[in-house]
Amino acid sequence: MAPHTEQLTRPAVRLRGLTRSFAGRTVLEGIDLDLPAGQFTALLGHSGSGKSTLLRAIAGLDHGVAGGGQLTAPERVSVVFQDSRLLPWRRVLDNVLLGLDGKDSGERGRAALAEVGLAGRERAWPGELSGGEAQRAALARSLVREPELLLADEPFGALDALTRIRMHHLLRELWTRHRPSVLLVTHDVDEAIVLADRVLVLDRGRIGLDLTIDRPHPRSYREPLLGEYRERLLAALGVTEDHR
Ligand SMILES: Nc1ncnc2c1ncn2[C@@H]1O[C@H](COP(=O)(O)OP(=O)(O)OP(=O)(O)O)[C@@H](O)[C@H]1O
Ligand SMILES: [Mg+2]
Repeated sequence: MAPHTEQLTRPAVRLRGLTRSFAGRTVLEGIDLDLPAGQFTALLGHSGSGKSTLLRAIAGLDHGVAGGGQLTAPERVSVVFQDSRLLPWRRVLDNVLLGLDGKDSGERGRAALAEVGLAGRERAWPGELSGGEAQRAALARSLVREPELLLADEPFGALDALTRIRMHHLLRELWTRHRPSVLLVTHDVDEAIVLADRVLVLDRGRIGLDLTIDRPHPRSYREPLLGEYRERLLAALGVTEDHR
């Protein structure tokens, strides 16, 4: 078996019957899901459908997830959010290294910044970075921890269209090089089908659609063959011709 195939057979994340309610209102209703190691998955869903709730549960950030369900996730998990969450009073490199030790950590931090195109900006303050640069610094901070699982909650949602496309290329390139499992939350159908090899739609507390996108990378938004996937995803999201 090729090493890559072998890697994909081992689930990095395993959920069985994951349920989450807030004040008696159930948001996640017995979710069953396996994310194979090294797979790039996107998660779509309407606003309020529970995408962030699911991501927070997998990240181990939610202690209110009901018992009875089963949740297995790797030890080294990194999370990237819509805003970079850099500490403004620490320089960029210090932000990347936050909480890391080991005598080679400085070198690793510099290498991670170089990977995201921020070589030379190590001593900048976060306030001196553009939105896209700040998100790249956040990616470097995640990468330097060599995560087995990268969870990203609308990481490009606040960026302009051009920067977003550049970030897509960067994320895919970093994934190819490091091969973490990725779960990317987005409400952008095109972003999901251009980047991910599998797209999930969260609907009424469950995984309503689980779609494998079997097309080579790099993909273009204009690729006609992606249109069929787009239609199926929009239908699962309840977006019909009348809404467009
Ligand atoms: N800590 C909380 N307390 C009460 N309700 C919550 C809490 N966190 C989430 N919810 C509710 O759970 C539902 C799902 O929220 P969640 O943030 O997961 O949605 P989402 O799919 O990420 O939406 P968006 O696309 O707008 O980010 C919402 O109705 C929200 O109000
Ligand atoms: Mg959210």
